[in-house]
Order: sequence, then structure tokens, then C-alpha cells
Amino acid sequence: MQSAKSIEQEARERAGDVSKEELLLIRKAEENHALTEPELTALLGSDAAEEALAAAADRVRKAYVGDGVHLRGLIEFSSICRQNCMYCGLRRDNAKAERYRLDADTIVDLARKAKGYGYPTVVLQSGEDLFFDTEKICGILHRIKALDLAITLSIGERSRAEYAAFREAGADRYLLRIETTDVPLYERMDPGMRWSNRDRCLRDLRELGYEVGTGTLVGLPGQTIPMIARDILYYQKMDADMIGVGPFIPNPDTPIGEEPAGSFHLTRRLVSLLRLLLPEANIPATTAMETMVAMGREIVLSSGANVVMPNVTEGDYRRKYALYPGKICVADTPADCRHCMGGRIAAMGRYVAADKGFRHHHRGIAQAAKHGLGKECEHA
Ligand code: 5AD
Ligand code: SF4
Ligand code: FES
Repeated sequence: MQSAKSIEQEARERAGDVSKEELLLIRKAEENHALTEPELTALLGSDAAEEALAAAADRVRKAYVGDGVHLRGLIEFSSICRQNCMYCGLRRDNAKAERYRLDADTIVDLARKAKGYGYPTVVLQSGEDLFFDTEKICGILHRIKALDLAITLSIGERSRAEYAAFREAGADRYLLRIETTDVPLYERMDPGMRWSNRDRCLRDLRELGYEVGTGTLVGLPGQTIPMIARDILYYQKMDADMIGVGPFIPNPDTPIGEEPAGSFHLTRRLVSLLRLLLPEANIPATTAMETMVAMGREIVLSSGANVVMPNVTEGDYRRKYALYPGKICVADTPADCRHCMGGRIAAMGRYVAADKGFRHHHRGIAQAAKHGLGKECEHA
């Protein structure tokens, strides 16, 4: 693992080489929130542009969503999964994965404790575990809703009717990463799954009035930088409310466990470009970034991100929910993580936001971007 200092020093050294053309592109993105696929590809691929991109994204973050960092308490309630994603330790064929399922009372209790730690939102995440049918999920949602918490669900692909029932029962947001917008790559990495169905899920969620979160897994074998540029345009087109991205971390218990890890730097540039092109989105500094680099979340929070999702799962379940090796905080308690993040955010001169952190809506930005106008023209 590299230290944060060396990462930042390295980036500063590379910053000297940023070209005039790149600086012009960054300025254009900062003013218009629009870039073409070749322009995005050029910036994503440029080590030299990284610091200037991060600085521009940090200014846009401050202007559009402010200095508040939204904390979401993450509850990993089942490690059982019917899918077989090539990159993930919870894939059904991984006999080494330790499987567990929390019962409804335990889940609600974790949510109550999360509220006690001051989290305004909980994220209920699991593998695709159909034991949790519509009735069970809705029962849990009703009970957590009664605690006056915002609820994000992240339980994979379901039917439109189920998404509608969850929404009705109190789910406010839904996280479902598209992983990649390249259809052949997606279908190689997620055998048995269809890209068109994932896209359908995201459209259904949007139509049902959820705040929709999605994102890219960076560094999948065979993924190219133009593919990632097209991911950004896809998020812009669907007007995603949240975009969570992280580097691929090889898991030796999976078929692609010998492939190289995704790049921390490329992922950081992706976060910055996402902030420039979707200025009002909620963008987390993800756990996988911190797994790769100490203080990775601070670096990402200074490069465009405004959300952190600390774990509120207790005991050994944290370790057992193992998508990839080296997961952070497996030996820490929910209280440790809450205090840790509070301190780290304050040390950056930012603050922990007290509200539920729904997406900011600045009327006119989408139109301004479409017409290539600066935000001052229509910014409401
Ligand atoms: N490395 C990094 N991220 C992973 N995910 C799954 N497996 C890995 C891995 N090996 C991510 C996927 C998924 C999210 C829950 O975790 O992007 O959508
Ligand atoms: Fe299951 Fe999600 Fe892992 Fe795929 S990424 S195997 S759907 S837990
Ligand atoms: Fe878990 Fe720092 S966030 S200990």
C-alpha cells in the first residue's frame, strides 16, 4: 500500500506537465459541465492532468453541494448471492465465502443504532438473496421508516413491481452500479446477466421516483478508457443522482483473481470528471479507494466527492461480507468508524452534514450543459 503523502507528491510532480490544451478542456468542463467522448478520454488518460482536474472538481463540489459531507450508515445484511460476477467474492460458486443472513430484528436494531450514532440515512445492502422477498423487505422498510431515517436499498436486480412495492414501503434511494456500459464486457464479467436488464432496472427505479445511484467498476480486464468515458456520458444522460466508483481489487477466490488491480489514479480522475459533468450529484469516496491507498477517502473527498458510507454492521459479519481482500475496518466497531470519519472530515475543514442529504436540484443546469452555456446563465 502506498502512503497518501507519496500519492499526493507524485501527483504534484506530474502536475507540472499538464498541457495548455488539457487546462482549456478542464476550464470548459468547469464552466459548461459538458465534454465530448474524445475529450473525456483524453483527460481520463492523462496523469499530468490529475491535480488540475481534482482542483476544478473541488471548486465545483464546493459551489454546488457545499462543504457538508453526508454519512450513510451501511448495513450488510446478507452475504448470500444468486449471481456469479467474475470479480466478486460473494459469487455463488465461491465455496470459500462465509455466508450469513441477518434476521429482520437484527437489521432494524442496526438501523436504530445507526440513528443513535447520528446517521440520517441507512444503506441496506446484500448479495442477490431471494430469501428476502417483497414481503420481508417491505416489512423491514416499514419498521426502519418509523425511525425517521432515509433508506437506500442495494439488493440487486428485481422486477419493476418489486421496486414499486419497496418504494411504497419507504425506500428513498436505490444503488445499482451498471459496472460498465460496454455490453460485451458486462456480459463477460457477469455471466448469466443481461446488460439490457440492468439498464431496465435503472430506468424503472428512476420512473418510480427513487433517487438513483449507479457507478463503474474501474479496471475490469478488457475495459478501456473510452469505455469509461462513455460511462460518464451514460450517467449524464440518465441524470444519475449518485455515482459511486471504485477500482477493481482482485479476489483470489474468483476466476479473475490473478488480473491486475484497477488504478487508483484513473479512478480519482473519474471522480473529478463526474463532479465536473454532474455538478449536483452525490458522489461517495468509496471503501475500495481506501483499501488501495491509506487516506484514499480524504484524497477523493478533495477531488470532487461529498459522501462517505461507513459500515454499521457489527462483529464478524464485516469480515464475512468480503467482495475483495483487504477490506478496511473489519476489526472496528460502528462507533469506531463514526468517530474516525467525524474526526477526519473535521480535519479537512469540512463538516458532517446533519440533513438526510437528498440531491440538490439547481434548475437549469441540464439545459445549460446541453446548450453549452455557463452555469451563471441559468443557475437558479
Ligand atoms: N473489487 C472492487 N469492487 C468490487 N465490487 C464487487 N467485487 C469487487 C472487487 N473485487 C463492487 C461492484 C458491486 C459493488 C457492490 O461492489 O461494483 O456493484
Ligand atoms: Fe452478487 Fe453483487 Fe457480488 Fe455480483 S457483485 S456476485 S450480484 S454480491
Ligand atoms: Fe472505520 Fe476509520 S472508517 S475505522
